[in-house]
Amino acid sequence: MGQFEGKVAVITGAGRGIGRDTALLMAAEGAKIVVNDLGGGPQGGGGDASFAQQVVDEIRAAGGTAIAETSSVASMAGGTAVVECALDHFGRLDFVINNAGIIRPRLITEMSEEDFDTIIAVNLKGYFATIRAGAAHLKKHGGAIVNLSSPSGFGHLGMANYSAAKEGVVGLTRSVARELGEFGVRCNAVRPISQATTMAIPEVFETITYQIEKLGIPHLSNQWLSPNGEVPEPHSVAAVLAWLCSPLSENINGREVYICGNQIALVQEPELIRNQFRAGGWTWEGLCDPAVTRALTYDVRNRYTGRKPD
Ligand SMILES: NC(=O)c1ccc[n+]([C@@H]2O[C@H](COP(=O)([O-])OP(=O)(O)OC[C@H]3O[C@@H](n4cnc5c(N)ncnc54)[C@H](O)[C@@H]3O)[C@@H](O)[C@H]2O)c1
Repeated sequence: MGQFEGKVAVITGAGRGIGRDTALLMAAEGAKIVVNDLGGGPQGGGGDASFAQQVVDEIRAAGGTAIAETSSVASMAGGTAVVECALDHFGRLDFVINNAGIIRPRLITEMSEEDFDTIIAVNLKGYFATIRAGAAHLKKHGGAIVNLSSPSGFGHLGMANYSAAKEGVVGLTRSVARELGEFGVRCNAVRPISQATTMAIPEVFETITYQIEKLGIPHLSNQWLSPNGEVPEPHSVAAVLAWLCSPLSENINGREVYICGNQIALVQEPELIRNQFRAGGWTWEGLCDPAVTRALTYDVRNRYTGRKPD
């Protein structure tokens, strides 16, 4: 008997990459799956319905249950259609995995309004759309929502649009967790690194190389990467997404999990550091005190000015 017998999962962007591996894994563990994918390229567009259908065929060939759904989740109508597909075909909804994603690496001076809006629509609003449509159904008997964020949310040269969306996903996650927790619905975010997906386009690596080699700004500290350097594969991320739906993680809610190859970790929640206090409240004069500047900035000076560290 599988971990998810009798349960129903909606997985967006499940025609390829991380979503596909998650659909195959959760189906093998007994879940009925709505395989959503509009069949797009890594920078958007789309319309190849065969992506979703191929995954459905693989699941069925292995003895599982799945149905293909090809809406774009970038609209409220699309998010609603994905959830309704689960209810119409399988009669319930237990898990929403918001995995659909695209990227448009551009320097901020070259990023168009459309580049920004499109990325926000797929990677952030699309997650709201499925949660908005699914929350009332999840509340009936409990369940789990898992949202794909990204380490790029911490800051990634050339990816301001994507970073904004993926960090927005974390705020969305924390708030939904607080709202639905009392109904037995958990909501967590995952920050993965995975090669061997279509999203790993050359421009992403070019921006990282530029940031590190030309500006001397670390992309992620070494502790983020797979310590023994092994290639992070999508199936490792899929395992984490499934784990966050299972009772094995029942005490994890409103958190972020990092996964890269052989490393999994919780991300520390933000906290205030180097607190300074001033009687009567802060004023311009108060902030002109050099001691305050020193206290707040002494080892972060010139952090992103493009100077290589001494
Ligand atoms: N691969 C990584 O290293 C990495 C790192 C950080 C975050 N992520 C996130 O993980 C998720 C999965 O990424 P992946 O690497 O497997 O990418 P991928 O490109 O292999 O798969 C994404 C899928 O989403 C689908 N999709 C795109 N827009 C859609 C829409 N509007 N509606 C429905 N489906 C849509 C695409 O057709 C594609 O099949 C994404 O949200 C991505 O941002 C990936």
